[in-house]
Amino acid sequence: MSWQEDLEKAQAACLSSITAAKSYDELEKIEVEYLGRKGRITGTLRTISSFPPEERQEIGKQGNAAKNRIERKIETRKKELKGKETEVKLKADIIDFSLPGKKPLFGNKHIITKIIEEITEIFIGLGYQVAEGPEVETDYYNFTALNMPPHHPARSLWDTLYVKSEGEVDSKDKLLLRTHTSPVQIRVMKKMKPPIYIIIPGKVFRHEVTDATHLPMFFQIEGLVVDRDITFGDLKGTLEVLAREIYGKEKDVRFRPSFFPFTEPSAEVDVSCFCDGKGCNICKGSGWIEILGAGMVDPNVLVEVGYNPEKVSGFAFGMGIERIAMLKYGVNDIRLFFENDVRFLNQFYEI
Ligand code: FA5
Repeated sequence: MSWQEDLEKAQAACLSSITAAKSYDELEKIEVEYLGRKGRITGTLRTISSFPPEERQEIGKQGNAAKNRIERKIETRKKELKGKETEVKLKADIIDFSLPGKKPLFGNKHIITKIIEEITEIFIGLGYQVAEGPEVETDYYNFTALNMPPHHPARSLWDTLYVKSEGEVDSKDKLLLRTHTSPVQIRVMKKMKPPIYIIIPGKVFRHEVTDATHLPMFFQIEGLVVDRDITFGDLKGTLEVLAREIYGKEKDVRFRPSFFPFTEPSAEVDVSCFCDGKGCNICKGSGWIEILGAGMVDPNVLVEVGYNPEKVSGFAFGMGIERIAMLKYGVNDIRLFFENDVRFLNQFYEI
């Protein structure tokens, strides 16, 4: 076979393989087979020196023309294949606009935060202001100023968590985690002059055994009113308004005589349990759940902050927010509020 026939045959075979190729891989193999170092076209060109000089120019010319043609054909085929591959990919990735979308998850305020805000709004509507105080408190504000001098037996009503180690606890200014929001009453009264209409929301801490109605950390809202001629009737009326705002007419509310060293007389307020008074293990058979302690500010407390009990009187109350939430939403275990199971928490929102 002459070099010419050989070249034409190789070129024809190569071009039809390119047309039949179905992938980049195949094209690469063809390129190596014909144009690679040991390829068929390259081989023909390499034999050039064995031909007479007058033929060499023609072999070079035709050989290079074949090489260029093959290279151009490979480029064109690559472009065609790329177009096809994109088409296939697009078909596979097709977006179905009729499918329902995925709902994004939004965060929410914790239900306890929402109740604190709800109660705060009610009191702001009644003309109260909002105050705050420290969670790490001194013994003076948590007990002494509230009519409980050192060693007063009423201190044992609150199982206290001290911040300092046991050896240091006897020092004068003991630090503790506040057991109630009542110390902020003292801080407010020492700074302001009557009339005072204030609420104090915040976290409190007790060294308590946890059960369905008790937590070692919970929220309270304290209320304090000091003005001229404030009576127990004002306290009762205020708390009745609050109970109606929170529970509507569905729940019964009762006042029960009680004792707090910083109020005289004192009372506790109970709300009817979800068992509707039949008795259950939450209300321990009584049909009532206690939500707050209250009373008329003890004259000793007024004197401690520099007020004249002959001129002003006041009332105070401290309510447990988780208990209020339990009764409002029929939650039968207080621990659920802080387990942070979103299945529980999401029940309080429209999602
Ligand atoms: C007090 O803390 C008083 N400082 C309340 C007060 C304020 C009385 C002003 C008079 C004047 P008590 O310890 O009863 O009181 O707690 C008040 C409320 O907090 C209770 O009625 C209850 O609703 C809630 N509470 C008490 N202990 C716990 C607990 N361990 N877990 C959850 N809630 C609790």
